[in-house]
Amino acid sequence: MAGKPVIDVDAITGGRRFRRNRRFDWTRRMVRETRLSADNLVWPLFVIEGRNRREPIAAMPGVERLSVDLAAEAARRAADLGIPAVATFPHVPLARRDARGSEILKAGNLINAATKAIKKAAPDIGVITDVALDPFTSHGHDGILVDGVIRNDETVAQLAKAAVMQADAGADIIAPSDMMDGRVGAIRAALDAAGHKEVAILSYATKFASAFYGPYREAIGTGGLLKGDKKTYYLDPANAREALRETAQDIAEGADMVMVKPGMPYLDIVAAVKREFGLPTFAYQVSGEYSMLMAGVEKGFLEEQRAVMEAMLAFARAGCDGVFTYFAPKIAQWLAAGWKG
Ligand code: PBG
Repeated sequence: MAGKPVIDVDAITGGRRFRRNRRFDWTRRMVRETRLSADNLVWPLFVIEGRNRREPIAAMPGVERLSVDLAAEAARRAADLGIPAVATFPHVPLARRDARGSEILKAGNLINAATKAIKKAAPDIGVITDVALDPFTSHGHDGILVDGVIRNDETVAQLAKAAVMQADAGADIIAPSDMMDGRVGAIRAALDAAGHKEVAILSYATKFASAFYGPYREAIGTGGLLKGDKKTYYLDPANAREALRETAQDIAEGADMVMVKPGMPYLDIVAAVKREFGLPTFAYQVSGEYSMLMAGVEKGFLEEQRAVMEAMLAFARAGCDGVFTYFAPKIAQWLAAGWKG
């Protein structure tokens, strides 16, 4: 049977055969470069007012908005699955939104109520609060809008106050996601002055003006409100060098950890940020990435577990220390059930 080979592969490769390491499951496990763990997950939660309420989000199959009590239960479940932290996003009733987003300065607002309830139900899970005005403004922008212009410095002053209130409520990590200039330094100074020296800042250092946030805007009810776009404050998707300058600046101002957002289309940025600065680096697998995957799954074009875990490996390989993902509880369950890849 085995006649003379058509091609002398050993002559071509010099006897090197990469497939030796891939022969068996056990060899593949031995040489695997990247491993996944529940420790690398952060679960974003959408919070609403009321009690015992859950609402589906049409654009994000399988994701629900939860009332504060149910969000606290979800956080308890996440802690039991070994997920280190949740990140909260409020869906604020329209009546409480205004042009300046002043609701963010109410100590007992929805995001702060959620933090308190989560800390009570699950003291061992970290709470990461997003500090940005968009859930609270009637126009859906992340800043104070005057005559069509986002006022940077006024917004920063308001965010710094809001960050202190979030820390007062028990937030462990403040995550500014607004991309105003100077907000990391202002928040650091305000936290320190208020006695919150231990509270960390995870800066959304490189947040791009992305189409992939679409489903999130449905989730927190800003989609229909947003006038114009966010291009005067979020990064241009075309710019990688600017993203590194932004990150350097946020680190200089006191960021303890940095984030790249969106995730999968921006893995070059993740790799560069990790290589350049070496800080704990996170990616946000945003709503649109979640919805694309789920749409593929629902159409039968993709196998959910394989596709999701491959995406997670890609994040880890690029240099992520962790990923904000709506799949977090599913992934933690798959890992607990012995997922091997
Ligand atoms: C805004 C904010 C956004 C997300 C979280 N906070 C982006 C936006 O609406 O412009 C997106 C999260 C996601 O898409 O999953 N501060």
